[in-house]
Amino acid sequence: MDDSLRLRARTARVGIKSGALRGDALKELLLSVPFIDRDVWVDELLGIDEIPSDMPGLPPESVPYLPCGVEEVLAVLHGTIRPDDVLVDLGSGLGRVVILAHLLAGIRTHGIELQEHLVQGARARCTELGLDGVTFAHADASTCELEGSIFFLYAPFTGAMLARAIHRLEEIARRRSIVVCAVGLEFHHVPWLRARESPSVSMAIYDSASWHVR
Ligand SMILES: C[S@@+](CC[C@H](N)C(=O)[O-])C[C@H]1O[C@@H](n2cnc3c(N)ncnc32)[C@H](O)[C@@H]1O
Repeated sequence: MDDSLRLRARTARVGIKSGALRGDALKELLLSVPFIDRDVWVDELLGIDEIPSDMPGLPPESVPYLPCGVEEVLAVLHGTIRPDDVLVDLGSGLGRVVILAHLLAGIRTHGIELQEHLVQGARARCTELGLDGVTFAHADASTCELEGSIFFLYAPFTGAMLARAIHRLEEIARRRSIVVCAVGLEFHHVPWLRARESPSVSMAIYDSASWHVR
């Protein structure tokens, strides 16, 4: 990324801290950054320096930390977002998805992450930016309490952990309609999820269509 883009990110960061830069204005600025530089630009904007190492002893079914691209976050927000929607990222890492979604859509967001140092890093980013609509839990997302309307999974886990998480999501979907967004995972075999058209080739979006109409 060249110096002029870096400067633009630092100026935008001041706008975010003051509360002046949000929503469509932020999206427009983001889209004005060349595609190839966008992920690095967002990291500069949010104050994310480098990808930390994973904790020793990460369970075998847990996928190590790797942030998803900005394009996927934009794709999640492409559909109808209601002001009372709550987006939950299962395996939220340093919080890139939940922080960006909150800034762009103005909705409350919540990240659940197994690795404590990543949770601490994510909370520190929010404190620096003065954000209070983003929360994090240090927990196993396949067993902890889940509350939200849009659930985002960038391949956080596999096997029994994933099966447990899908079961928990089904329990919520039996009470009210939810949206599930998946990167690096496919849920076509899950009977209560219906795929909808996704604006991103790398992300699948599903509605819980069996019991409710959203
Ligand atoms: C591929 S990364 C995705 C990070 C983040 N969602 C993003 O897109 O920027 C997967 C994340 O899931 C976390 N993870 C793995 N197993 C988990 C579990 N059982 N509960 C919560 N987080 C978990 C990992 O520590 C890692 O940060």
